Amino acid sequence: MGVLKGQKGSEIPITREGVGVNAGVSSTKRRRWAKLMPFFVALVVVAEIIFLGRLDMVKNATMVRTWTNSFYFASMREGAMSSQQKEAFDALGLNNHNENCEDWLEQEDAITYSRDFEKKPILVSGAEEGWISCSVGCKFGFEFGSNKKYDAKIGSSQDVTTASVIRSMESSQYYPELNIKEARWRRYNVVMTTSLSSDVPVGYFSWAEYEIMAPLQPKVEISLAAAFISNCRSHNFRLEALEGLEKENIKIDSYGICHRNRDGSVDKVETLKRYKFSLAFENSNEEDYVTEKFFQSLVAGAIPVVVGAPNIQEFAPSTGSVLHIKELSDIPSIAKAMKYLAENPDAYNQSLRWKYEGPSDSFKALVDMAAVHSSCRLCIYLASKIRESEERNPGFQKRPCKCTRGLETIYHIYVRERGRFEMDSIFLRSVNLTLNALESAVLAKFKSSNHVPIWKKQRPESIKGDELKIYRIYPVGMTQRQALYTFKFNGDSDLRKYVESHPCPKFEVIFV
Ligand SMILES: *[C@@H]1O[C@H](CO)[C@@H](O)[C@H](O)[C@H]1NC(C)=O
Ligand SMILES: *[C@@H]1O[C@H](CO)[C@@H](O)[C@H](O)[C@H]1NC(C)=O
Repeated sequence: MGVLKGQKGSEIPITREGVGVNAGVSSTKRRRWAKLMPFFVALVVVAEIIFLGRLDMVKNATMVRTWTNSFYFASMREGAMSSQQKEAFDALGLNNHNENCEDWLEQEDAITYSRDFEKKPILVSGAEEGWISCSVGCKFGFEFGSNKKYDAKIGSSQDVTTASVIRSMESSQYYPELNIKEARWRRYNVVMTTSLSSDVPVGYFSWAEYEIMAPLQPKVEISLAAAFISNCRSHNFRLEALEGLEKENIKIDSYGICHRNRDGSVDKVETLKRYKFSLAFENSNEEDYVTEKFFQSLVAGAIPVVVGAPNIQEFAPSTGSVLHIKELSDIPSIAKAMKYLAENPDAYNQSLRWKYEGPSDSFKALVDMAAVHSSCRLCIYLASKIRESEERNPGFQKRPCKCTRGLETIYHIYVRERGRFEMDSIFLRSVNLTLNALESAVLAKFKSSNHVPIWKKQRPESIKGDELKIYRIYPVGMTQRQALYTFKFNGDSDLRKYVESHPCPKFEVIFV
């Protein structure tokens, strides 16, 4: 006697000896059954296909196959189903056509985690006190009492009993411990810096802080560019760049301490609005280190001329909207471009086209990240890590995560929007395990629940968008640098490989 695991987790005894014990069937009856034989064979084959569909998750596959086979032959021989067989069929749900792989997977893969974050929120110590509005329970404060264990502490890597977080918006060229490798070496578990490769990036950009779509104003100043530079001893060549542009006869109004030729007590953004160009010169040239100098230029609609992040074009609202002085030798060509744009209104207007038509999807996807406060993103990060470690327990490793129905396998996939915590289920069929099908399934899922993107409230009215549009889908756990710029499934086969080697994979989606 074997034991089968039923779809509800119940144990169903299958008595092999029970098969074919239909002694005493009269010969007339037998003849009548014989006529129904083809029908029966077909029924059994169908049943077997449905049944084998469930084998994927049944370890004892050979045994089951043997059972179905012996049932098949017994039926051939005797032409009848014993009452035990009928019961077994019913119990296995083989007659229940409503029970499908998707429902079954939803049940079997469901995890009851040991911690409910609504009741026991993520506690972060070492920061200003308060509940953070977040899609996962999230609380900040300095002291939670001696018997309350917190999940992370900001600003200390001494306490080994809790995760330590380093959080700063400064450049690592001034504060070396902010370099990710350096921070890890100093035993910080979570790095929060302007780097999009850090665990929880903290950027200067956000819709809330900058009125990025503010309308253009007439460029009434005679000087081409305005500069607000006050630290004249930076680690990069920004002062030389300023002098270099002046040597190329670019007229610059300088409101900062360095090379000041204007009264500096003005409203910066309002002042910038009157200029065609803004010298957005950072104090260090570091990847992703892009400060208010740049975003204020965008608000003002003054074309940013940048000394700073080598990847500044990734922050451009559209192609051709930013001039980048990568090195001093670029100065003559940049000066030439500035003069050309200043003298050609159509070309100049073209560079600011995004102010009328809206910024590129890649810009929106970047700035939307900040729609969720970094403290909340830290809580989501920590809570996701806690769940991830729980999922490594043997109990969770037993989840089927896929289901075979006939010739087809259904894969269970989890997906959430970036900035949210809880996951939703989608299913992909083996015959259509493609990137297109993944996108369709994600869209269908979110559309069916009338999903409102998390950035909707913060985006300026003119660029809210009314259709859900997918920008990126990537595995949970990737950095934003990977998610936005470097990661891509290399075609359908790459996706298939990933899904097959990561049972119940979790994806995050960015809508634009
Ligand atoms: C600039 O271009 C926009 C369309 O992209 C147009 O509406 C606007 O009138 C143009 N402005 C000037 C000064 O040419
Ligand atoms: C595969 O998925 C795509 C996208 O959802 C769909 O258009 C297509 O009809 C599907 N093909 C099959 C064979 O199901």
